[in-house]
Amino acid sequence: MSDLDRITLKHKSLYGAPDLVVHSPGRANIIGEHIDYLGGVVLPFAINRGLWFSFSKNNLKALRFYAADLDESFELKKLGGFNVSGPSWFNYLRFFLKGFPPSFGVDVTFGGNLPIGAGLSASSALTCGYIFGMNEIMGWNLNPSEIIQLASSSENQTGVDGGMMDQHAIVLSKKDHALLLDCQDNSVKHIKLDLGDYDLVLFNSGIQHKLIESGYNHTRINTEQGLSKLNAVGSFSHFRELNSDFINTTLNLTPLERSSCLYAIEENQRVFKIVAHLENGDVEKIGPLLNAGHWGLSKMLLVSCEEVDYLVKIAEGHQSILGSRMVGGGFGGCTINLVKKGADISGLKEMYQSKYGDCDCIYLSAENGVHIIG
Ligand code: GLA
Repeated sequence: MSDLDRITLKHKSLYGAPDLVVHSPGRANIIGEHIDYLGGVVLPFAINRGLWFSFSKNNLKALRFYAADLDESFELKKLGGFNVSGPSWFNYLRFFLKGFPPSFGVDVTFGGNLPIGAGLSASSALTCGYIFGMNEIMGWNLNPSEIIQLASSSENQTGVDGGMMDQHAIVLSKKDHALLLDCQDNSVKHIKLDLGDYDLVLFNSGIQHKLIESGYNHTRINTEQGLSKLNAVGSFSHFRELNSDFINTTLNLTPLERSSCLYAIEENQRVFKIVAHLENGDVEKIGPLLNAGHWGLSKMLLVSCEEVDYLVKIAEGHQSILGSRMVGGGFGGCTINLVKKGADISGLKEMYQSKYGDCDCIYLSAENGVHIIG
């Protein structure tokens, strides 16, 4: 049974036939990691994994939720009082609901096939899907950028000071395209994702990251501190104007601030290079940039972990893989790999399994952003 059918049937059995069915995808990122919150450029896309939602109105003035994959129900018996404690996933929705209290009761069932804590933005898929569906059912007329802003702000209030890459990718992605997002002004361009003889494939290390507990906020603060020290010495309006000589010769940076600032300018340049290679059909030139991006995350920003580094190392040594890097906020999760079509990559999986345990492999396609199914 498909995930869509599973969620719809469950909803019917709990609350009756849905009035609205929504799909909200997860996202992967080709390049441009940990620079969205600095106003850099990033190249994510919505993937063929995600969440499905069934919504229906109720006359109970209540908000009822059922998280199908976790078998968790939650009920708010009135259309307010959102400060009550609830399941952990409700935290992502709570702050949105406080700002946009619904005018009538709604039942929602959600679930899907997006691994949690794997760097594929399950939390933003939840937040964007719920806000998108509530917007439809309530007739609020929020536009896509308002949905993005609301989702991002609701998630940030849970304590992770994330950027807005994930919400943009989940709301604005277009099938067979990556989304070039300039986080300085939130302008977007859809870039055709034609990889010729290659596929994008995820390897899931199985190490679940929890951004709130990991060093995500600390990483952001550290780089911002470095940039502000640099700004005090030679003022600039954007980190993209910096060059490595200036960063290397400015004295009062800590080693980690220096490497993080160097990482940011290099990563931003890698995004433009990869976009040019995609536009020119030079897929083979993308691989080394992915690897360089990964080792930047690992050695300059310190946001990787042993297991994910190992996945990248064995991918680098594989003749059918052009490049590999960690995807998402870090400290675990998946690598994204550029793999020759039809190549046998089972050996790689086995190598990882013999050392660290299970490793799921997901062949990716670029899909449309959040949308109504019925
Ligand atoms: C998380 C955040 C994003 C982004 C990535 C790292 O997914 O939500 O805003 O910072 O990490 O690129």
